[in-house]
This record gives sequence, structure tokens and C-alpha cells, in this order.
Amino acid sequence: MPRLPKTLFAAALFACLPLAAQAQGQAQSPALPDDGTQGKLLAENLCTMCHRTNLITGSSGYTKDGWRSLIGTMLDLSGAPQETATLTEYLAKHFPPNTLRAPKLVSGPNEIAFTEWVMPTRGQRTRDPMQADDGTIWWAGQYGNLIGHFDPKTGEKREFQLPDMSRPHTVELDNRGRPWYTGNMNGTVGRVDPDTGKVTVYKMPDPAAKDPHTIKFDKNNIMWFSLQNANMIGRLDPETGDIKLVHAPSPKSGPYGVKIDADGTPWVSCNGRNCLLKVDPATMAITEIKLPEGSTVRRLDIAADGMIWYVNSSLGRLGRLNAKTGEIKEWPSPSGPKSHPYAIVVVDGIVWYNESFQRPDALVRFDPKTETFQSWAIPSGDIHAGHIRHMRSTREGNLLIHQSSTNRVIQVTVKRRAAEAR
Ligand code: HEC
Repeated sequence: MPRLPKTLFAAALFACLPLAAQAQGQAQSPALPDDGTQGKLLAENLCTMCHRTNLITGSSGYTKDGWRSLIGTMLDLSGAPQETATLTEYLAKHFPPNTLRAPKLVSGPNEIAFTEWVMPTRGQRTRDPMQADDGTIWWAGQYGNLIGHFDPKTGEKREFQLPDMSRPHTVELDNRGRPWYTGNMNGTVGRVDPDTGKVTVYKMPDPAAKDPHTIKFDKNNIMWFSLQNANMIGRLDPETGDIKLVHAPSPKSGPYGVKIDADGTPWVSCNGRNCLLKVDPATMAITEIKLPEGSTVRRLDIAADGMIWYVNSSLGRLGRLNAKTGEIKEWPSPSGPKSHPYAIVVVDGIVWYNESFQRPDALVRFDPKTETFQSWAIPSGDIHAGHIRHMRSTREGNLLIHQSSTNRVIQVTVKRRAAEAR
């Protein structure tokens, strides 16, 4: 069996050192085709350090240049041009562009513009960008075990390494502008001091509470957070460090997205079964609201009029719960039942979400007044690669999204027509 060239292996190892452990325990991977070239060996060795080969076999495929662009955001192969050529040739031969995941894009009158920024550490799984009061942006690099901060005006970027195995699932600013993250792999939440880089860690009081996930602060600066696999919802008082945890009423609910309504009541979506959860902020008693059979919901948002909007990820629909009457209404997403809507945000009464199964990943706009959709292909440099896992609005009413495959934070500037101007 041919051995991996030393130079390339060293380059890859250097790029992935903090991530090497990630691939362990991920043995289940579809086999890659053997065509007698070194391409298979290179791909098997280099591409499974952070994720399984299913991302390659299930991808939308690329040309040789496209594969070069894509893997350039995951690995620094500049020291090994020969091997890079072999690898990209192999990938383009066996996984050329296909339309299996093509979205059904809907045209319409609204205009948007994408502005992309690439974050420094390759393959870090950039996600969850959030704008601070001063216009700077925080993001989480889940595989890179970091949170980062950058200034779109100057382009300056800083990355803060977190304690080992934190694997931050998100970053969220509290009401005082301080960045908090969830230690999704080590049962913690933590806060980073941007001036000193010092990390303050809060350990979960219950060892079963292994995977803090998404955070939201209420008006009193109390942190509410979900724990997907632990099937819990948590509350942390940043003043005292006191943490309280409660179980979701039904097993394997998969508490996921978190939002707080105007009355200060936290709402949590279930990614494991057909429910939304309403949490009493004083007692933490949970009311379960049933959604249509077969639904699972990654994320939700709450409009100014109190309507709860959610992505029905498993059924490929957009949904709305009238919290006062209990009425539920759902609309099929343009790309169909497998489109896996994922992130969602409501801005100025307009609902935005993405169809994460599609390549290109589609950004969808839904106007509740006219019940009409419009959608766009999200760029990733000169290629298309996903995912958006969380989206939020900026102070100016634009959207902050990301592409976790290609280290990108993206601003979607919503061009308002004169009549709609705020
Ligand atoms: C340093 C870590 C790392 C390495 C090494 C790595 N990747 Fe990735 N890759 C990622 C991350 C992070 C994602 C996004 C995963 C997610 O969001 O679930 C990704 C996603 C992908 C995707 C999905 C793209 C899409 O459609 O969104 C493909 C295809 C892919 N990688 C191919 C490769 C290939 C080929 C190699 C080897 C040359 C490789 N990766 C090596 C980190 C890495």
C-alpha cells in the first residue's frame, strides 16, 4: 500500500492538530472508489480527520478547481502541490458536479446582497455569528475549539482558544455585550474576556448535562440554554454562577433552538420529536405543545406580534404557532419535504430561513402578509457549500449567516424599497 507523502501529511497534521481527536470514533464512513491512483489514500487520510467520507460521497460534487477551493478552506496544502493535484483530480473524477441536491429557487422582486468574510483557522466549522453594539461580530469555531471576534470595518480578526474539548456550539452576547459560549463536549458554559483572553468556566452541576447547546439571555440578563442529547433546559445566573437544570417532559425531545418572548418566557424547539417547549421563567415548569406527527424542529423565532415561527426540518415546511389560540399553520418549503429548513430569523415582519439540504444552500424569504416565498443561492467564494446552522439579524435589519463548510461569515444586506424603508 503506498504511503502518504511526508510533506503532505505534516502539512495536514499541522492544520488539524487540535482536531485530530474529532475523527476518532467516526469509523463509519462510506468507502471511497479505488481507481489505482493515490487519490483514494490521500482522501482517506486527509479528509477524515474532521468528518466522515459521507460529506464527500453525498456532496453536490465539484470540478477540479471547485474541489481545490473547497478543501483550501479546510486544509493548508500549499506545501504539497503534486499531491493536491492528484487529490483534486481524483475527487473531480469520482465526484463531479451533480444536481441531486439542487434547490428549487423562487424568483421575486426583493433584492439582497451577500458580503463574505473568511475566518482564519481552516476547517474550524465557523458558525453562529452575532453582531455586538459597536458593529463588530463574534463567531464560534466549533471544531477549532475557539470563539472569534472581528471588525468588518477594518477586517481585523482575533481567535480565542477555549479550554480543551469545549467544542463551542455557539457564541452569544449577554446584555452587557460579554461573549458566552456553550462547551458542547465538556458539559460547561463559559465566558471570554476579550481584553485578557481569560476564560471563566461554569461546570454543569449534573454530570448527565453533557452538551450545552444554544443560549439566549432574557431582559434580566439570565441565561437560558438548551441541552440537546441530555434532554434538558438550563438557566444560569451570571451574577452568582447558580445553574438550574430541568428535563424536557418527554424523552429524547432534543431541546435545540431557544428564544424568549416579549413576556420573558423562554421557548425551546425540539429536534428529537414533534414539540415546542414553553418554560415558566420563575418555576422552570415546562409546557409541551404538540406539532404535527413526524415534525422535528431545529430552530424557531418570535415575531414582534408574538407569533412563533419555526422550521419544520424533518417535513420540509415553515410553521407558525399562534401562542394565544394554539392554532398551527404550515407552508411547504419551495425545495420540498427533504429540504431540511434549519436556521430562522424574523426581521421587520419578514421570515428568513435556509434549506440546508440543498446545494447551493438556499436562503428563503417568506412574507406572511402575502404568503409568498422568494429564495436565493448562497455563495461560498467561487463555489457553493453549506451549512447555515443559526442566523440572526443585525441592528440595521440585515442578516448574519455563515457557511460552516468554508469558514465563512456572511452578511445578507436587505435592500429595502423606498416604501418599506424603516
Ligand atoms: C480541519 C478539518 C477538516 C478537514 C481536514 C477536512 N474538512 Fe471537509 N469540512 C470541514 C467542516 C468543518 C465542514 C462543515 C461540516 C458541517 O458544518 O457539518 C466540512 C464539510 C465538507 C464537505 C461538505 C460541503 C458542503 O456541501 O457543505 C465536503 C464535501 C468536504 N468537507 C470535503 C472534504 C475533503 C475532500 C477533505 C479532504 C481533502 C476534507 N473535507 C477535510 C472540516 C474539514
